[in-house]
Amino acid sequence: MMKIGILTSGGDAPGMNAAIRAIVRTALYHDCQVFGIKRGFGGLLNGEIVPMNSRAVSDILQRGGTILQSARCPEFNTPEGRQKAKEQLVELGLKGLIVIGGDGTFRGAQVINEMGFQTVGIPATIDNDIGCTDFSIGFDTTVNTVLDAMNKIRDTAFSHDRVYVVEVMGKKSGFIAVSAGLTGGAEAILVPEVSFDLDEICSQLKRSAAVGKAHSIILVAEGLNGDPKEVEKSSGFVVGDYIRKHTGCDTRITVLGHIQRGGTPSFFDRRLGTLMGNKAVELILDGATEKMVGFTNNQIQISDINKAIKTKKTIDFSELELAHVMAGL
Ligand code: F6P
Repeated sequence: MMKIGILTSGGDAPGMNAAIRAIVRTALYHDCQVFGIKRGFGGLLNGEIVPMNSRAVSDILQRGGTILQSARCPEFNTPEGRQKAKEQLVELGLKGLIVIGGDGTFRGAQVINEMGFQTVGIPATIDNDIGCTDFSIGFDTTVNTVLDAMNKIRDTAFSHDRVYVVEVMGKKSGFIAVSAGLTGGAEAILVPEVSFDLDEICSQLKRSAAVGKAHSIILVAEGLNGDPKEVEKSSGFVVGDYIRKHTGCDTRITVLGHIQRGGTPSFFDRRLGTLMGNKAVELILDGATEKMVGFTNNQIQISDINKAIKTKKTIDFSELELAHVMAGL
């Protein structure tokens, strides 16, 4: 009986559970045995590995996060850590491993592949910054969460004639900011990929106020000033404080933070997880390795993981332009 392992690694993303469910049920349908590896690569080298049956994935489709849990594991980058991981894989007799996560997760998959095990990757990150796929699991739900927050903020911004600077996640990319900004009616969108002039934004806010539009939402990507984990002051506060100082507008700053990662997955992410999970098992059964299951032009597309890691995915600059036109300023 063929044995397949699954792990989720890196930041969790809504829809990961749909992928886990699809992998387990597809594998069982094909008479394979499935093992869930807990807490990412750390669980692999520590032997936190559990057999999964069909019931193990009941009632999880609607849940955000990942039932297998996730972690970042520095030990996996050491020769000793890798040796431990290999011993676990050999002991279990796993044929293939399906990893669900972002580019760091895919780099881990390559290491496992070099050890002689088949690996297939499923892109899951709210940042949507993985190459060779239009969508990663979790992005759609996150954008909807941001839209919900923007709607609520808009109510109070209007009521008090205020400027709100709203900071969204995305690490060093602006996918969340552009998609939510375009569809949530942001008056300005600031992303790391495009240079901007804060003085021009201040002038624009003053012009708007002068013609009677005193409330605005400025959507700011967290990675404006580099890696968000390394900066001293978050992008939202840098931009918000500048606007407050240079416009005199009543300005508030909201950092949406980790609420963007949780919550029940959208239709789109459940479907993506289900289609990708199913395909990943089929690839393992076909003997494929180092492949990533992507979703491009509204259909499943297979690429080399290596290519996905090396491909720099860029935001749609025309959507950013369009958002500016739609702001009507
Ligand atoms: O990669 C997903 C993500 O949510 C980024 O948008 C964010 O910068 C980062 O993870 C936050 O990481 P952590 O949960 O470790 O604080």
